[in-house]
Amino acid sequence: MTGIYFSGTGNTKRCVERFLNGMESGAETFALETPQAAEAAKCAQEIVFAYPVYYSELPKIVRDFIVGNAGLWRGKSVFIICTMAMFSGDGAGCAARLFKKYGANVTGGLHLKMPDSIGDVKILKKSSAQNRGLIKKADEKIDRAVADIKRGKYTRNGLGIFAHIAGLLGQRLYFGGKTKKYYTKVKADGKKCVGCGICAGVCPMQNIKIENGKAEFNGKCTMCYRCFSRCPQRAITLLGKRVYVQNKYEDYGETLCSRTK
Ligand SMILES: Cc1cc2nc3c(=O)[nH]c(=O)nc-3n(C[C@H](O)[C@H](O)[C@H](O)COP(=O)(O)O)c2cc1C
Ligand code: SF4
Ligand code: SF4
Repeated sequence: MTGIYFSGTGNTKRCVERFLNGMESGAETFALETPQAAEAAKCAQEIVFAYPVYYSELPKIVRDFIVGNAGLWRGKSVFIICTMAMFSGDGAGCAARLFKKYGANVTGGLHLKMPDSIGDVKILKKSSAQNRGLIKKADEKIDRAVADIKRGKYTRNGLGIFAHIAGLLGQRLYFGGKTKKYYTKVKADGKKCVGCGICAGVCPMQNIKIENGKAEFNGKCTMCYRCFSRCPQRAITLLGKRVYVQNKYEDYGETLCSRTK
């Protein structure tokens, strides 16, 4: 089994690693923005594919990876893990439909509620204790799913027709278009930015460069909030105007994480 995932602020990475550790010791995971990911998918027969849901849709980088490697999926078994802050309807279904179109056998889907990665919009903000609680529940759900699969019963979150309708009517119809193109409005406050380059180093799209000691963005943002959550000056914003909280999985997860390895 091989894990292929996208993760902006670490939630999805954590979930796929825990799932795979439970399924099979020594299973490898690859971030899909790395050069090894497509080769790993090519060699694997069973893939666990994981991503965060954005507006009940696939992040642009995730859709591009699946479509850009369309020839790789025929005959593969794919189990889908989808993380979210609150609701997606058919988060796993979005990738499942694409994988099926390209000839894969989708074996199941798992939806996991995790901390919200959008730190510059006030709604959905939770306390650290509440976020830890969410992670604990997600861990328990992952462990139950692993135990079920070992008994031959695959969870099917997000794959049915009702989930499809809920995803479509609940959000995708109105907001799903936001993930069809790359986002151009990510910005750094020039007064706060000190040109440290941390944001450029973590961006999965190589969308950031440092020019004249300041961060500049090149119009190819997949809205992952990785730069936002790591900027030491809290200078970056995307959807909102103010940094409320910089969520990163490792801020909550260190003690929980040690249980997985
Ligand atoms: C642009 C954007 C859109 C999002 N849309 C949704 C959504 O529609 N429903 C939801 O429950 N969570 C939504 N989220 C929250 C993330 O799916 C959630 O926090 C996820 O666990 C982040 O995973 P990561 O840390 O692996 O990036 C959104 C996050 C972003 C950045
Ligand atoms: S991480 Fe923040 S301070 Fe550092 S270059 Fe990027 S925007 Fe500027
Ligand atoms: S610019 Fe920031 S939010 Fe956009 S893709 Fe790069 S790291 Fe993610």
